[in-house]
Amino acid sequence: MKTLKFAVLPGDYIGPEVMSVALDVLKAATEPAGIKLDYTEAHVGGAGIDNEGKALPDSTVKICEEADAILFGSIGGPKWENLPPAEQPERAALLPIRKHFSLFANLRPGLLYQELTDASPLKTERIPEGIDMVCVRELTGGIYFGPKHTKTLEDGDIQATDEMVYKKSEIERILDVAIATAKTRGNKICSVDKANVLTTSVLWRETATEYVAKHAPEIELTHMYVDNAAMQMARDPNQFDVIVTENMFGDIISDEMGIVCGSLGMLSSASLGTGKNSLDLPFGLYEPSGGTAPDIAGKGIANPCAQILSAALMLRHSFGENEIAEKIENAVKQAVMDDKRTGDIAFGKPSIGTKEMAAAIIERL
Ligand code: NAD
Ligand code: IPM
Ligand code: MN
Repeated sequence: MKTLKFAVLPGDYIGPEVMSVALDVLKAATEPAGIKLDYTEAHVGGAGIDNEGKALPDSTVKICEEADAILFGSIGGPKWENLPPAEQPERAALLPIRKHFSLFANLRPGLLYQELTDASPLKTERIPEGIDMVCVRELTGGIYFGPKHTKTLEDGDIQATDEMVYKKSEIERILDVAIATAKTRGNKICSVDKANVLTTSVLWRETATEYVAKHAPEIELTHMYVDNAAMQMARDPNQFDVIVTENMFGDIISDEMGIVCGSLGMLSSASLGTGKNSLDLPFGLYEPSGGTAPDIAGKGIANPCAQILSAALMLRHSFGENEIAEKIENAVKQAVMDDKRTGDIAFGKPSIGTKEMAAAIIERL
């Protein structure tokens, strides 16, 4: 019997709510194929602080190191917002775990089924066939990880600094991922930067031009400034196929892509590096792109699809179970098409809760 060994880090607020039903879906999808799930749950984020005094407990890191993949919920929220910044869940757990496993490539599939165009804030005429694109976000560099400091100046004013830093090699390795992704799709990459202002973006643009021409001349590479890209995403998202961009631009653009595709609650993600797991497949962390949604937590109404689709990405990338991954993705699509929808994508239709949504997906596996 094949066994899938992974770490489960549910996190905070809606994290545990959507994680619990995503595990039910995973179980229901893998059982008929004779696959056993061998997962270990661990605290992370606020749950780490509350239970073990630390956002990223050493025991959690060890559980992740011993696993073949990490299924992650989301972390942070008002309860821990008043802690010193360095101790808060996002900075003390999420960024360090990405760095620890060198998960430099964050793939966020922007997918809106044709049958769900009414859930997008865009007019259906603009997206008659739905939306299908991927945002490839650099995840372990840039302003998130550059030097930071705050100091009091001689005149008593206070100055805070975050440096945006990129090495050419870091840009090249994320381009590799974008190229590989584009080759499975439309052979089109749009590199998003701010080369009219930022030095890192000048290097980014030069490197993208040179690297794609040298290693994948068949790919159509375009460049776009990030402000224009944000506007174009709302005007005509289907002009994009693969977007490749640095860490912070990718964070912002992908939330916009999420809502244009219906809801952040549908937006999954895979974070990959060069590390291999015990199956000689990519080790990865799989998490919804959105956050802990404190405004709706505890009500049983969060959309579990992003977590469920992230679990499907884990099956595909870290366990090579493409067929089961596809089965889950199709079941999600079918459920939504049958008007089984949580409030965030209901748009006037009757809405159901997190558990009912998962049950509807399981029924359609
Ligand atoms: P958010 O993504 O949590 O919520 C933004 C909006 O989207 C809210 O209205 C929320 O209700 C809605 N939303 C998000 N996910 C949803 C879902 N599954 N179903 C239905 N609606 C959903 O962003 P925020 O409010 O800015 O952040 C809340 C906390 O989450 C913060 O502490 C933030 O740092 C953290 N966060 C964590 C991660 C992560 O762990 N990967 C990602 C983003 C934000
Ligand atoms: C995301 C989140 C994180 C990020 C935060 C919570 C640190 O917004 O995964 O998109 O900015 O990377
Ligand atoms: Mn984000």
